[in-house]
Amino acid sequence: MFTFVSWLRSLSDAPAGPVPAARKPTVAAVHKGRARPSRVPIRALGPRCRDRIRRHLLALDAGDRYMRFGYAASDEQVERYVAQIDFDRDEVFGIYNRRLELIAVAHLAYAPATTASAGRSAEFGVSVLKFARGRGYGAQLFARAVMQARNAGVQQLMIQTLSENTAMLRIARRAGATVQREGSESEAYLQLPPPGIGSRVTQLLQAQAAEVDYRIKQRSRQIQRLLRGPQAA
Ligand SMILES: CC(C)(COP(=O)(O)OP(=O)(O)OC[C@H]1O[C@@H](n2cnc3c(N)ncnc32)[C@H](O)[C@@H]1OP(=O)(O)O)[C@@H](O)C(=O)NCCC(=O)NCCS
Repeated sequence: MFTFVSWLRSLSDAPAGPVPAARKPTVAAVHKGRARPSRVPIRALGPRCRDRIRRHLLALDAGDRYMRFGYAASDEQVERYVAQIDFDRDEVFGIYNRRLELIAVAHLAYAPATTASAGRSAEFGVSVLKFARGRGYGAQLFARAVMQARNAGVQQLMIQTLSENTAMLRIARRAGATVQREGSESEAYLQLPPPGIGSRVTQLLQAQAAEVDYRIKQRSRQIQRLLRGPQAA
């Protein structure tokens, strides 16, 4: 039956969890362009989202943590990393599912003011939960980071990753980055053009769209809870 709640659900792209295999585009299909990944709203995350970011990163298995951080980060190391994110300096953004869980998180870390490259360079780190991979979320978060960094006056974006990280290196190369490989580790560098009116307006519009999407999901959750309330009681 088509209900108000199902209508609210249909407004958002990012699914609540794993999608059935039949509907899920394979990496190969996405890669060959047969299934175009749909655009999803990407929302800026602040200190109030620290706990959700923590939960997202703790959900990564050992292999993913190794890929994300360059070492097999323990739970304590993940907790410390999250506690130390400087939201005043850096930008963190993510993709929510309908349950308002973060299924993808990106961290754009600006070079600290004490370094020679302060204000001119930034580093990008990203993670997408396993079930949500191959849908273009990693690439969309990277595109968002490029735009934000550009608008902040950054000239060079850097990605440190393992040489075996095909997906991350593919994202970087497709954006035009130069990859320097040093054994098991690789560094990708992307030179950014100065900001333009277009990049600033796009950032503003995308931020507003993501906010609207988040509010809709929030309201949808509240309605679902209300509807479930009497049954639960
Ligand atoms: C790297 C990561 C963020 C990619 O996220 P994603 O949402 O699956 O990436 P996308 O769907 O945008 O795919 C990006 C590209 O990689 C390709 N790709 C995705 N998974 C792949 C895989 N397992 N093998 C080969 N290519 C792959 C896609 O086809 C796409 O290429 P295309 O644009 O030419 O079609 C994700 O795998 C992840 O979270 N890994 C663990 C953490 C990590 O490695 N972080 C990066 C280091 S900071």
